[in-house]
Amino acid sequence: MKVLMLNGSGNANGSTRAGLDIMAEVFAADGVDSEIVCVGAKPVRDCLGCNKCAERGKCVFQDDGVNEFVEKAMAADGFVFGTPVYYAHPSGRILSFLDRAFFSNMWGTGAAAFRQKPAAAIVVARRAGTSASYDVLNKYFGISQMINVGSTYWNEFHALTKDDVPKDEEGTQTLRNLARNIAWVMKCLKAGRDAGILPPEAEANALTNFVR
Ligand SMILES: Cc1cc2nc3c(=O)[nH]c(=O)nc-3n(C[C@H](O)[C@H](O)[C@H](O)COP(=O)(O)O)c2cc1C
Repeated sequence: MKVLMLNGSGNANGSTRAGLDIMAEVFAADGVDSEIVCVGAKPVRDCLGCNKCAERGKCVFQDDGVNEFVEKAMAADGFVFGTPVYYAHPSGRILSFLDRAFFSNMWGTGAAAFRQKPAAAIVVARRAGTSASYDVLNKYFGISQMINVGSTYWNEFHALTKDDVPKDEEGTQTLRNLARNIAWVMKCLKAGRDAGILPPEAEANALTNFVR
C-alpha cells in the first residue's frame, strides 16, 4: 500500500515538506509506503479548458509533471495534498497542478486515479488563511468520489519557515493523527476488497447544465 503526497510549495524543502515528512514517518511506522512529489519551482501551467484531455486521456501540456503525477496516482492507494497559504488561499501552483490532474483524469476513466481512495489536504501558514485554503483543496475530493479523512483538528499547522514546524505541537500532532487515520482507512478498504466488498459503480449518465 502506498500514499502519494504532493508538496504544493515552490520551495521543495520548506514548511510544507516538513509537514509531509512528519506524516511519512507515521506511514512508515504503520507499514505503509509513501512518496512525496513536489510541484517544483518551474512554471506550472493553468488549465486552458481545451478539453483535449477528453480525447487523449492526459493533459496536452507535458512539461511540468502533471501527467507523471496522474500516472503515479493510478497506482497509489491514498493521497495527501500539502500547500502553503498564500494570501489566504492555496498556492497558485498547486491549484494549476490539481485542476489539470483531476480534470484530465475525469474523462473516460471517471477519475480512476483518485476515486474511492482516501485523501486529505494539509495546509501551513505563518498565521491566517488556513481554513479557507483547506476548504479549497477539499473540493477536489468530493467531486472525485474520494474519502476525505479527518484528524483531531482541521489539518493545519503554523510556520514561517520549516524550523518553526516542530514548535507547533498541536499542528504536528494533528498531522500524526491524520496519517494514522489514513493508514487505517487504507487497510480497512483493502480488507473489504479482500473480503469481496467492492466499491460501487457510479451512475454517470446525467449531465445537466444550468442553461435554458
Ligand atoms: C506570497 C506569499 C503569501 C503568503 N500569504 C500568507 C497568508 O495569507 N497567511 C499566512 O499566514 N502566511 C502567508 N504566507 C507565509 C507562508 O504561508 C509560510 O511562510 C509557509 O510556512 C511557507 O511554506 P513553504 O516553506 O512550504 O513554502 C505567505 C507567503 C508568501 C510567499
